[in-house]
Amino acid sequence: MVIESVEQIDFSVGDLPKMPLPGRVALATPTHYDVQCVINPHMTRHVGNVDRARARRQWETLRDAYRKLGLDVCAAPGVEGLYDMVFTANAAAPFLAPDNTPGVVMSRMATESRYDETPHLERFFREQGCDARHLPEGILFEGGGDAIWHPGRRLVWGGYGQRTDRAAHDALASILNAPVIPIRLDDEAFYHLDTSFCALDERTAMICPAALRDEDIAIIRKLFERVLEVPEDEAREQLACNAHCPDGRHVLLQQGAAQTMQRLREAGFEPVEIDVGEFLKSGAAVYCMKLTFW
Ligand code: ARG
Repeated sequence: MVIESVEQIDFSVGDLPKMPLPGRVALATPTHYDVQCVINPHMTRHVGNVDRARARRQWETLRDAYRKLGLDVCAAPGVEGLYDMVFTANAAAPFLAPDNTPGVVMSRMATESRYDETPHLERFFREQGCDARHLPEGILFEGGGDAIWHPGRRLVWGGYGQRTDRAAHDALASILNAPVIPIRLDDEAFYHLDTSFCALDERTAMICPAALRDEDIAIIRKLFERVLEVPEDEAREQLACNAHCPDGRHVLLQQGAAQTMQRLREAGFEPVEIDVGEFLKSGAAVYCMKLTFW
């Protein structure tokens, strides 16, 4: 089922089947990471401007932060020529089948420079024991950046309008075996849902209201008890919504988003600042750099 409007919501999150939080996190080594062409507005001034050694250290810091929180980190080797492969969030949408088999729905990237990432990452996920599925031909879909599980429940928040087609969400609802709520993305700077929306725990989301439509915000408010608002400047400059809460408590986010961190603390979360500044040059922060899966 795909939920199109707030009137259609005749359930509360607590009525939905429970899901465990994913325990594994897929990364890709940043060996070949670079900014060589502009496919989102954040990249504009950064072509040829990446410090690879620094990027490597930042990536290692993020990897170690996940290990410290007890997640099982698996890293796919980066591939020459695939500059954006490090952003594994876009590779696939993870799922857990009713018989507990882990799976992934592979993406179909919207930009040519990223097409060839998918076969490498499909092989990687199969090696990890996942069932790899595909959407029908011709439908664009950029994975976990535009398909975000509601923490702990069988419900998916889906972005569309920039990189992902609206039709992807009808197909996903049946493969993922979960209702999907499509959220329209109109602003190019917020080109994946994970740049303006972050599901922190079952009760709490963090959003940048300036990037979302009022009717979509109404749906978010209906299904999350608490909605923390990220100031627009922090959402644009530090990609503060591109944060990740893997355990219901710690929130990994780009360094320097002071107001966002304060709101997180007030809501009882523990912000963990990480500097992924070299990846911000590509229009990405913490959430983009990993894909959690079961
Ligand atoms: N440069 C990459 C792109 O534009 C960054 C991807 C960021 N990923 C994300 N899930 N927001 O495709």
